[in-house]
Amino acid sequence: MKRLRLAVLVSGRGSNLQAILKACKGGQINAEVVVVLSDQENAVALERAKKEGIPSFWVNPAEFSTKKEYEEKLVQVINSFTVDYLLLAGFMRVLSTVFMRGVKVPLLNIHPSLLPAFTGLHAQRQALEYGVRYSGCTVHFVDEGVDTGPIILQAVVPVYPNDTEESLSQRILQEEHRLYPKVVQLLSEGKIRCEGRKVMIIGEGQTSEKICLN
Ligand code: GRF
Repeated sequence: MKRLRLAVLVSGRGSNLQAILKACKGGQINAEVVVVLSDQENAVALERAKKEGIPSFWVNPAEFSTKKEYEEKLVQVINSFTVDYLLLAGFMRVLSTVFMRGVKVPLLNIHPSLLPAFTGLHAQRQALEYGVRYSGCTVHFVDEGVDTGPIILQAVVPVYPNDTEESLSQRILQEEHRLYPKVVQLLSEGKIRCEGRKVMIIGEGQTSEKICLN
C-alpha cells in the first residue's frame, strides 16, 4: 500500500495537524506530512511541524499585492514537494481556483459542524445559537465554495443545555482528532471514491449511520 505524502495548510494552534502527525508516527496511518504552510507567522502549528523536522513555511500574505499572486506562491512551494493530498487544518483563508488548479491534487478540509449546517466562521457558536441537539464535525473535499464540497465522513456529538462555545468546541475537537486521521487512512487504502457529490467508502457497509457515527 502506498505511503501518502501530505501537505498541510494551517493558520493557528494546529491540534488537527498534531493528531495527524501522531497517527503517522504511531503507524496508525500509512502517510507522512512532507510540508506545512501557514499564513500566520506565529501559528503554533508551525512550531509543532518544526519539532518533527517537517519543512515548514510561513508565506506572508502581506508580501503579495493580489490574492492570485499569494496563491501562486503557495502553489509554487507545495509543488516543489511531491504530494498526493493537501489537507486544510484550520487554514483561515478561502482558496480560489488559481490555487486548486495549481496544486493539481485533491484538497480536503475539516469543519466543526455537521455540514451543510453552519458553514463559515464560528460554526460551534452558530450551532448553539440555533439550538440544535446534535452537532459534530465533517471532513470533506474542497470545492470552490465555502465548506460546500463532497462530504467524506462526519462524526456526531450531543449538544447539552449548559454548553458554552468552549465546551462544545472541545467535544467536537476530540472527534476531529479521530476523524481526520481516519479519512487519511481510508485514502491511503484507496477506499474513498468520489462520484459527483457522493463519496463512497469501499468496504465500510452501506448504511449512512455506520459511516456517519463510526
Ligand atoms: C478546527 O476546529 C477545524 O475544524 C477548523 O479549524 C479548527 C482548527 O483547529 N477548520 P486546529 O488548528 O487544528 O487546532
